[in-house]
Amino acid sequence: MEKPLEATVDPQTGLRVKPVHLRQPGHQWWRSSVIYQVYPRSFRDLRGDGVGDLQGIAAELPRLAELHIDAVWLSPFYKSPQKDAGYDVEDYCSVDPIFGTLEDFDALVAEASRHGIRIIVDLVPNHCSDQHILFQAALAAPAGSPARDMFIFRDGRGEHGELPPNNWESHFGGPAWTRITEPDGTPGQWYLHLFDSSQPDFNWDNPAVHDEFERILRFWLDRGVGGFRVDVAHALIKKSGLPDWGGRADGSSSEGFPGHEAPMFGQDGIHDIFRSWRQILDSYDGDRVLCAEATIDPVERLAQWVRPDEMHQTFNFAYLHHPWDASKLRGIIESSLTAFDSVGAPTTWVLSNHDVVRHVSRFGLQAHDLRSGDGIGPLDQQPDHELGLVRARAATLLMLGLPGGVYLYQGEELGLPDHTMIPHEFRQDPTFHRTGGERVGRDGSRVPLPWRKDAPSYGFSEAGISWLPQPPEWGRLSRDVQEQDPDSTLNFYKHALGLRRRLDLGHGSLAWWVQAPADVVAFVNNGVLAVMNMGAEPVELPAGELVAASVPGAGAHGKLEPDHAAWIRLPVRDAA
Ligand code: GLC
Repeated sequence: MEKPLEATVDPQTGLRVKPVHLRQPGHQWWRSSVIYQVYPRSFRDLRGDGVGDLQGIAAELPRLAELHIDAVWLSPFYKSPQKDAGYDVEDYCSVDPIFGTLEDFDALVAEASRHGIRIIVDLVPNHCSDQHILFQAALAAPAGSPARDMFIFRDGRGEHGELPPNNWESHFGGPAWTRITEPDGTPGQWYLHLFDSSQPDFNWDNPAVHDEFERILRFWLDRGVGGFRVDVAHALIKKSGLPDWGGRADGSSSEGFPGHEAPMFGQDGIHDIFRSWRQILDSYDGDRVLCAEATIDPVERLAQWVRPDEMHQTFNFAYLHHPWDASKLRGIIESSLTAFDSVGAPTTWVLSNHDVVRHVSRFGLQAHDLRSGDGIGPLDQQPDHELGLVRARAATLLMLGLPGGVYLYQGEELGLPDHTMIPHEFRQDPTFHRTGGERVGRDGSRVPLPWRKDAPSYGFSEAGISWLPQPPEWGRLSRDVQEQDPDSTLNFYKHALGLRRRLDLGHGSLAWWVQAPADVVAFVNNGVLAVMNMGAEPVELPAGELVAASVPGAGAHGKLEPDHAAWIRLPVRDAA
């Protein structure tokens, strides 16, 4: 791999730049893809029960195609008791009746392909539902049996086994162990669940678990999926002996507990699992992908997950959590590109998903210390929506100018904020219930989408009902209103995404514009200067054609106001 160069004058444009990332070899679609996350229960309810469904997604594919996306990633739609909104899977090779049928799924894949869109599904290999047939068999079988060995059962500590086997905590709060009652009615062993007690962790030291998941991969690959987003991919293997851990439950670093020492995350054996999955995907046609959801830091370590024979992509959570600070943002972009370039993988960029507060709301807070999984509740400081939206549009435009892969989360193209005022009785996230309401959880970012201003449930559901309440202000953010307004967030997304594709920015390069003021993030990619002003003063822009503006007027007359972003196509100098 070529080394980054020193600051130099770009021969094409005459700007003083510092190259960081050079155009990568390889033209596979996933190196520059835009992947749109659909959260099925909140996308579009065609069957009229207040929960979105697969038919609803199929019906709206033309609207998704207008966003120039390459693929849709579907959060889980498998048979599930829905204790964690489907991330508690009871049957991996089925569709839950609330979402439709396997025939609906096949129809969706076929229809998406007609629009040039691949369907990526969510693989949840760390845990299943406690209603899964394998876990039910484990409960019915004796301690030490092969059925129990599919999961992580241990005897408790203490004289009568009354204490959990170690001190690990669940991501959603409370202990990560639950004690069972043995078939003979006596208090028995404990099983590990890094998430809710209804989500027992599989034992990936057992080859039978590998076999089970290879079967599941093939089931969906045979149905034509474009690949898998792999849920909590960093947690599959646990350190042998399951030693105590005093650090954070989510494995992020804290005082005295660096994340890389967490015994439940990022263990070496994981790479062999990814390699075997990669071989399976490679044995299919159509360039299918694996993308890891892995909260592993630092990014140099994360990059090991996307070596050429492992996953194709991994989410970049350092980027998602970037604060409104130009120097920190530049640092994250540069270290990400450098780390992923060193293994020949694309860097990915993301600002929102179903586990975090939407970026419109995050950027509307004065300061925040939101962890993944935390939400904003009625008693918390409320975001400033106007400021948040202006900043979110700027951050989005900058992101869409970056080389590599991009992930979008449904509703961000409408500039939706979180619903921060959901009354407690509607809350469904296990985080809320497991912490006695202390952490409100993630429901605020999962509210059903507004399609039509004047329809009940804003057109989300044919029956006018919605599984979570929608905020009253969402009428003006509805899709039909935004379609009519050339300056809307929706039309801004369409324009920027179309341009990203036309100018091939996803498959480009990145060189910092070194004369940019310290509070400004600015880089050149394929002859376009992407620039965002995170400071308090307007800045002068170099001459060029303004091709995209984060809000109307941003970047006009050679000036960029605070909280605005723009793309300037730089004039190409005469070679003579
Ligand atoms: C992932 C999912 C999240 C889920 C958790 C447990 O982080 O994105 O929604 O609760 O895994 O499966």
